[in-house]
Amino acid sequence: MSFDLVLFGGTGDLAWRKLMPALFQAFRHGSLPEGGRIIGVARDDNLDDDKYRALIQSRFDAVEGAKRPNPEEFKKFASMLHYLRMDLSKPQDYAALAELLNARNADTVVMYVATAPNLFTQVVEQIAAAGLNTPRTRIVLEKPLGHDLASNRAINEAVGKVLDEKQVFRIDHYLGKPSVQNLFAMRFGNALFEPIWRREHIANIQITIAEDLGVEKRGAFYDQTGALRDMVQNHALQLVCAIAMEPPINAHADALRDEKLKVLRSLKPWTPETLGLHAVRGQYTSGTAYGERVPGYKDEAGIDPQSRTETFVALRAEIANWRWAGVPFYIRTGKRLASRDARIEINFRPTPHAIFRAPAGAVNKLVINLQPKDGLELHLLAQAQNNRKRSVGDAVQPLAPVQLDLDFDKRFGSERVGAYERLLLDVIDGRLNLFVRSDEQEEAWRWVEPLIDSWATDGGPRPYAAGTWGPSASSAMIARDGFAWGEEQ
Ligand code: BG6
Repeated sequence: MSFDLVLFGGTGDLAWRKLMPALFQAFRHGSLPEGGRIIGVARDDNLDDDKYRALIQSRFDAVEGAKRPNPEEFKKFASMLHYLRMDLSKPQDYAALAELLNARNADTVVMYVATAPNLFTQVVEQIAAAGLNTPRTRIVLEKPLGHDLASNRAINEAVGKVLDEKQVFRIDHYLGKPSVQNLFAMRFGNALFEPIWRREHIANIQITIAEDLGVEKRGAFYDQTGALRDMVQNHALQLVCAIAMEPPINAHADALRDEKLKVLRSLKPWTPETLGLHAVRGQYTSGTAYGERVPGYKDEAGIDPQSRTETFVALRAEIANWRWAGVPFYIRTGKRLASRDARIEINFRPTPHAIFRAPAGAVNKLVINLQPKDGLELHLLAQAQNNRKRSVGDAVQPLAPVQLDLDFDKRFGSERVGAYERLLLDVIDGRLNLFVRSDEQEEAWRWVEPLIDSWATDGGPRPYAAGTWGPSASSAMIARDGFAWGEEQ
């Protein structure tokens, strides 16, 4: 099978940080179909094929260890790379693209639109105007798709006019993460958890996506976006779906997406009361990261010094259905937090009656670690077998917390398929399971929109020092239910 992958935004941040490394890994492991072309598209007049290859090679200079390509390997990979200069507003530039693609007539043409979201509609319409919306075409759209429900709909409508839904790959790279796929495997490939995966046994669910980095070089983009649109509307809500969905009838794309959609539709809508009590947003001020002093958000490059953009969000969501009624789903995400740490914690209810002494608050918990390590931990209580002392009056030894650990690196090796690699290969092969359907996306926007509206006019985000776990109101929110965020150091 031959393919052409056209990368709009070929010199952009995403291509640089995620897509090129993923494509290289796929190439190295022999998973990219032979004879493919990767055509980087950008506005830079000074690039040609050779210069583009050299630019991409320089991206790997800082890579150390096994992931660094050796020169021979890179040369072979680089022979797939091409450069096309385009001004995305000019029809004649799409005609040049069409000429390049039609001359080869590959079996599959993937158009990866990794540009600013306000260009999506234009790019899609121009692709169609140049006759490039053939049945061989697949389009990949990066998130965030729009900045609210109306703009999301407008993009989806424009896309829907020229391509069939099964040609549209809305990417959310969290769905490609090994731990997220294992969450599906754990829930629907094993009989063990499903019977207790419900309100009768689960006290609360916590989703943390913490980053220690600041906004890096993406200040201008981030200041227009904020944590709610950048992380919650997509990544965090997709995780909620993966945790809360009913077992699908099979593992095909629409069966999965139908169940995810039901979860999004069941999210309890915001009310004036819950907007005040169950949503916290923050913005980092100067503090410490990696042992060094770092600037506050407003002092970062590209940020408006008066910015009201949130770099932290903590929410309490509820899913109004029979399985989950009354179980809080806590979500928190932010930049410049105390560590890079993404995990889902499923906290089970305590035993109905205690016959052993156990540390206060110790409960069974299943932790799905997404990063920096990925794996599963099952937290149990056990009797420490090496303790010879027993207090007078203790019939048996008090219980101590223990953990069953599944570290995916140790179990499956560290050369596993990364999220972008998995998803890029799925696009080339035409598998839609791990991509988001337009109706899911619209529901997610519908749910976050009242937050966007209420935040437009309130007192602004709460400050938190870089290197902490966000504003104290986030812990206060969860403490009101008698719980605490897990594993904060
Ligand atoms: C992206 C966001 O979607 O996800 C970034 O735009 C964020 O702001 C990134 O840093 C986090 O991805 P990961 O895989 O490093 O957790």
